[in-house]
Amino acid sequence: MRIAIGSDHAGFDLKEYLRAALAEEGYEIDDLGTHDRSSCDYPDFAAAVGRAVAEGRADRGILICGTGIGMAIAANKIPGVRAACCSEPVSARLTRQDNDSNVLTLGGRLIGPLMALEIARVWLTTPFAGGRHQRRVDKIRALE
Ligand code: RB5
Repeated sequence: MRIAIGSDHAGFDLKEYLRAALAEEGYEIDDLGTHDRSSCDYPDFAAAVGRAVAEGRADRGILICGTGIGMAIAANKIPGVRAACCSEPVSARLTRQDNDSNVLTLGGRLIGPLMALEIARVWLTTPFAGGRHQRRVDKIRALE
């Protein structure tokens, strides 16, 4: 599975941690920045990762800012992106099962690296349940 990952300055340290940890677990990681801790604008990275997913250059995306919320708001503007901000693994599992989310957003200032890694692991390995949930995802797509 190819994962596009991105962050702003507030998510940089957690991005670096997750990039290394997920690569170690066998995922192919495409790091779209930011590449240092200097101040930058999260919508730029939400756009880069969101477009990579929407255009099929990545299977999934992971975005990290201070709260995860700005990244989710921005990424969800891109047609084809279903971004979910998660701070614990139950939501991560359910947003895969129910929403077929294709971008995970995380709050680098809110959760620690081990919690973030567990959320990412659950989110990356949980399949979409389909069935009645497919109808609902189709209705989301119809809103685009
Ligand atoms: C940056 O200061 C901060 O606003 C950003 O990382 C994010 O939390 C926005 O939602």
